[in-house]
Amino acid sequence: MEYTTIMEQTSAQTSASSKHLWWQSGVIYQIYPRSFKDSDGDGVGDIQGIISKLDYLEWLGVDCIWLSPIFSSPMADFGYDISDYRCIHPLFGTMNDLDKLLSEVHHRDMKLLLDLVPNHTSDQHPWFLESRSSRDNPKSDWYIWHDGKEGGSLPNNWLSVFGGNAWEWDELRQQYYYHAFLKQQPDLNWRHPEVQEAMLDMMRFWLEKGVDGFRVDVMWHMIKDEQLRDNPPAPGSPSEAEQLSYDHLMPVYSTDQPEVHDIVRMMRALTNEYDERVLIGEIYLPIDKLVTYYGKDNDESHLPFNFQLLTLPWDALQIAAAIEEYEGALPPDGWPNWVLGNHDKPRISSRVGIAQAKVAALMLLTLRGTPTMYYGDEIGMRDVPIPLDEIVDPQGLNMPDLDISRDPARTPMQWNNQPNSGFSYNKPWLRLPMNFGRVNVEMQKDDAYSQLTFYRALLEIRKENAALHIGSYAPVYADQQLIAYIREWGNDRFLIILNLSHRTAYFKPKSTTYKGTVVLGTEFERGGMQIENIITLGGDEGLLIRLQS
Ligand code: NOJ
Ligand code: MG
Repeated sequence: MEYTTIMEQTSAQTSASSKHLWWQSGVIYQIYPRSFKDSDGDGVGDIQGIISKLDYLEWLGVDCIWLSPIFSSPMADFGYDISDYRCIHPLFGTMNDLDKLLSEVHHRDMKLLLDLVPNHTSDQHPWFLESRSSRDNPKSDWYIWHDGKEGGSLPNNWLSVFGGNAWEWDELRQQYYYHAFLKQQPDLNWRHPEVQEAMLDMMRFWLEKGVDGFRVDVMWHMIKDEQLRDNPPAPGSPSEAEQLSYDHLMPVYSTDQPEVHDIVRMMRALTNEYDERVLIGEIYLPIDKLVTYYGKDNDESHLPFNFQLLTLPWDALQIAAAIEEYEGALPPDGWPNWVLGNHDKPRISSRVGIAQAKVAALMLLTLRGTPTMYYGDEIGMRDVPIPLDEIVDPQGLNMPDLDISRDPARTPMQWNNQPNSGFSYNKPWLRLPMNFGRVNVEMQKDDAYSQLTFYRALLEIRKENAALHIGSYAPVYADQQLIAYIREWGNDRFLIILNLSHRTAYFKPKSTTYKGTVVLGTEFERGGMQIENIITLGGDEGLLIRLQS
């Protein structure tokens, strides 16, 4: 498929480009704090460890760090079950460490985002302890309590994302409470004004400290149907008695409710009181629904996370179509974004294979919009096989037959070939792969052919060229193997050609002639080559070409 309107800019692209902020032009790097660098030898990564690696991140060329939760937590879901939103878990360090991290990050002209988990707390949070203590305490309605149906059965058929039904009977209060995730993660009742106030206060606390924004956990879950109506079965799901896996029902009443937008708007309004802070939403929804989280007047999330590269099959035509659909669905001032990995999904090198990892990186860092990368992807870390008796992720443990433990994508960063790969001087909380002696930062940093060198060069070229970080986007070509597009800013034009297949491919546009120089190729030797007309690509090859003006 050859696109004919290649040089037309949409009005969305033009207007969104009139002023650019750091979160539009920069690159976000997600750190899973347990696994980045352990400074005190307890086998778990910590804030001091992260501080010690800031020079590395600066050298790599990323602009913003997002930390998965580092707050007080019983760790039932590794920190996504928070018992004090304003306190740092001692495993990770102290508030002083966090202050130091923030100032060190800012000192390097980088930004720091925290993970905001507003949908649920830990069942050990004082709010929940109070709420469950009686039916008439001041916080009794802060969570979603229900008597159950007549006869004592569950209030409705809602299922937990982590398996089984989503209601837990509380002996103390003699009622059920709703938990979309673990039973140790009761959902807050966001319809309650005091809950809203408490959460906004907490956000203010961090914004006052100077954090540059939040990644908001499960944003689309925050509010549920007021009548708690049953969710309908998903097409092809088993009979009612066996509907116990989350995807057996369509979560039409438990997620993505119209009222959620009021909440996001409130969060955004608060964020707007501060300079250049960003509100990112974790949202797994189809594109048409996802883009509603920008808000009708662009007054909700700055960046509703776009997970298409994580969820779609690695198929050139499907991905090309999704890019077009996404570009077309964005509201006039909505800024796009792309994500290639996170702590919940298999790593890109495992999902599409090592051979495609550089192609994927080239796509992530040259599509229009803010890219989010996941620690370790820059060295091609793969999912680490975790023996069954070492699984610690509750998602894996609760549903052993589905093989969906997230541990493999959360393993320690591979820094060097020393014991524990330089991550810790003691046994890490999750094992390393057997090949860490070969796949690590130290080995790759001076190797011209490595994944790390490729990432670093790409990040640098992206930073230096406005066309790549804020330029317009226009599709050029797509077929079963290739995706090609142009990024343009002023007189600068870049052609990106990606071969998503392992076989050789020809880029042979009929209507236009492209002439230029390869600035970066997935094959090192391509650098500097002149290209003209028909371009022959190797399997798994990607090219970044500066077009002659
Ligand atoms: C989404 C987070 O990314 C995931 O790790 C967590 O388990 C759930 N939300 C529940 O907080
Ligand atoms: Mg530690």
